[in-house]
Amino acid sequence: MNQDIFLIGKGQTPFGEHWDKSLKNLMDEAVTAAIDDAPINALDIDFIVVSNMLGERTNDQAHLGAMASSLLPHRPPAIRTEAACASGSVAVHTALSLLESGRAETILVVGVEKMTDVSTDEISSALMGAADSEKDIPSGLTFPGIFGLIANRYMHEYGLTKEQLNLVSARHHANGVSNPNAQFRSAIPAEKISESPNVADPLCLLDCSPVSDGAAAIILSNNHESPIRIAASQLSTDTLSITDRPSLTSFPATKDALDRALEEAEITRDDIAHLETHDCFSIAAVINLEDLGFANPGAGIQLYEADNPTPTINASGGLKACGHPVGATGVKQIVDLTKQLTTSNKRYALAHNFGGACATCAIHILENTDA
Ligand code: COA
Repeated sequence: MNQDIFLIGKGQTPFGEHWDKSLKNLMDEAVTAAIDDAPINALDIDFIVVSNMLGERTNDQAHLGAMASSLLPHRPPAIRTEAACASGSVAVHTALSLLESGRAETILVVGVEKMTDVSTDEISSALMGAADSEKDIPSGLTFPGIFGLIANRYMHEYGLTKEQLNLVSARHHANGVSNPNAQFRSAIPAEKISESPNVADPLCLLDCSPVSDGAAAIILSNNHESPIRIAASQLSTDTLSITDRPSLTSFPATKDALDRALEEAEITRDDIAHLETHDCFSIAAVINLEDLGFANPGAGIQLYEADNPTPTINASGGLKACGHPVGATGVKQIVDLTKQLTTSNKRYALAHNFGGACATCAIHILENTDA
């Protein structure tokens, strides 16, 4: 970052099924909570960035920048970002860039998605907009299918068993028990994961993040201070289609974004105390830990075989237990890491959010300047 930018407010709705609330209601709830949490009033916000992937498909609603702006009395300028499941962190990156450019001083970022109003078939089809419409969609693939292929290949290359893989969802569901905003708050023993319905072999229902509604908001400022400083924000991209990749068992965009983020924050990965990583499917968490360098290739599962790994991994419950309203997830990861840093009084936390099969990857590093 070329200047000090602080996270001065945060808020979110519980994630889950919100059939009684509109997209605008969810947005309003998160925005109001973030403003109430910040040492400013709404009139201090001079720009809004909204993240959302599917408004047109699932809610017949585009133009979400104007919708968000209409929630504030002075209707500040607003834009929307879309980068599939990475929409939220791309919104944060965009807001930080606007602050760095001098275009704004205090920006509201709100991620929102309302997915449960349509059928599972419709949402699966809509989510495939994150893949390559020429190469992936004609084959009949869905995202559980794509990550099923990735899991099969990983098991073939490294000998990971389904029993080992089950530890991932079991851990994330256990973590979600204490998160009041999580969609699922029950502990699920590892052996139960394989007993859930098969979705895309070897992935069962409980290996998948769910379909969710929810919103999360943060306020970023370069003229109001708080203990939480944004130490790094980096984006990286890869091919849209997995068929254009040399390997299915690693996501190079993660490595690229991570290297640049650590350099920007002037820290090493050993400084990271808390990690929220993009566990859209259980196998993704294993691969992510390797690409982030917390485990060697093939050894990511060892962090789930250990009782108290460092850094903490998805202490919020991750996408698996919290839910994954796709446009809100990247913002919500930063909300959760802020809480984790404040509670633990540790110094650094890392948010890792991706879209598609890591075709867009965003990494943010937060610093607790009080620690
Ligand atoms: N994790 C935990 N529980 C889940 C769940 C999940 N992923 N998905 C559904 N459930 C629960 C529901 O709450 C419901 O419980 P109930 O019977 O107590 O009410 C039950 O399982 C059946 O739910 P249902 O909605 O009928 O499941 P489904 O078969 O329609 O959908 C999946 C299940 C796995 C297909 C769906 O969650 C899915 O597509 N997930 C992946 C989403 C995705 O691709 N996101 C983008 C990532 S890149």
